[in-house]
Amino acid sequence: MPTPILHKESLIPGKTSKLVLDAPEIARKAKPGHFVMLRMTPNGERIPLTIADTDAENGTITIVYLVMGKSTALLEALNVGDAILDVCGPLGHPTHIEKKGTVICVGGGTGIAAMHHIAKGHARAGNKVVGVIGARSKDLLLFEKELKSFVDELLISTDDGSYGHKGLVTDLLRDRLKKDKTVFEVVAVGPVPMMAAVAETTRPFGVRTTVSLNPIMVDGIGMCGACRVSVGGKTKFACVDGPEFDGHEVDFPELRRRLAAYREQEKVSIDDYQRTAHGN
Ligand SMILES: Cc1cc2nc3c(=O)[nH]c(=O)nc-3n(C[C@H](O)[C@H](O)[C@H](O)COP(=O)(O)OP(=O)(O)OC[C@H]3O[C@@H](n4cnc5c(N)ncnc54)[C@H](O)[C@@H]3O)c2cc1C
Ligand code: FES
Repeated sequence: MPTPILHKESLIPGKTSKLVLDAPEIARKAKPGHFVMLRMTPNGERIPLTIADTDAENGTITIVYLVMGKSTALLEALNVGDAILDVCGPLGHPTHIEKKGTVICVGGGTGIAAMHHIAKGHARAGNKVVGVIGARSKDLLLFEKELKSFVDELLISTDDGSYGHKGLVTDLLRDRLKKDKTVFEVVAVGPVPMMAAVAETTRPFGVRTTVSLNPIMVDGIGMCGACRVSVGGKTKFACVDGPEFDGHEVDFPELRRRLAAYREQEKVSIDDYQRTAHGN
C-alpha cells in the first residue's frame, strides 16, 4: 500500500537518512525488533529495513537507512509528500524483552538506530540499560541524543578517537563485563564483523548475547529461502525464525559469504541507475 513520507531528516548527508512514515496499521502492531519490507518501484526488489521507532498514537513508524545501492538510492530520492510504493510489516519476531536487571545494548553504524528501539523496549520494561555505540568518527555517530533520553548510561567509541574512547565498542564492552557482574544480556545490532566480535567478547563471560542478523531477503515471509542462516548447526530463515538469534551459535563466516554473493550484479545495477538518473 502506498505509504506517505511525513518527515525526512538527513543524518549523514548523502549517506544516511531518517524517514517518518504514515503507517497506522503497522505502528499499532510493531514492537522492538520488527522490520518492514519496502518496494520503491513496480518492478523493483523488496528490501528489509528495521523499524527504528513507532508512535502508535500518531500512527507513524520511523526507518533509518544507509544508502548502499540501487534500492536505497531510490528511497533516498523520495521526499516529504512522496509515498513509498509498498511497505509491508511488521515482520519477524519481536525482541524477547523481560525485566531481569542490566542489559547492554551495542550498536554500530546504521545499526545504532535499530538498537535504539530495542534499548527503549528494555528501558520501558524496567531494565537498567547501558548503551554502547561506535562509529569510525564523530560525524558518523547516530542517535546519541535519542539514546541519552532514556538509557542509564551511554558509552561511546570512535575508531579515530574524534569522540569518546579511541577504539572499538568491544573494548568498552569487555571493560564493562569485567567490572559488572549484574549484566544478564548483551544485544548487538550493526555490521556483521561487529556482531561477530561482540559475540566473541561476551563468550568467555558466559553472558547471553543476542544479535540481529541482516542476510539478503527477497520475500521476508519465509517462502524463498534467501535469508538462510546457520545457527547452532541448524538452518534457520532469518525473516520468520529471527532476525534475532543467539550470537554464540551463529555461523558468521557463512553469513558474510552469502551477503557478498551478488556484489557484481549489485554494482551493475547501481552503475546503470546512476547513468540513467544523470541522463548519461
Ligand atoms: C532484517 C533486516 C533489517 C535491516 N535493517 C536495515 C536498516 O534498518 N537500515 C539499513 O540501512 N539497512 C538495513 N538492512 C540492510 C538493507 O536491507 C540493505 O542495505 C539493502 O537491502 C541494500 O539494498 P540496495 O539495493 O540499496 O543495495 P545493493 O547494492 O543491492 O546491496 C548492497 C549490500 O546490501 C545487502 N543487500 C542487498 N540486497 C539485500 C536485500 N534484499 N536484503 C538484505 N540485504 C541486502 C548485501 O550485503 C549487498 O552486498 C536490513 C537487513 C535486514 C535483513
Ligand atoms: S526472505 Fe524469503 S525465506 Fe526469508
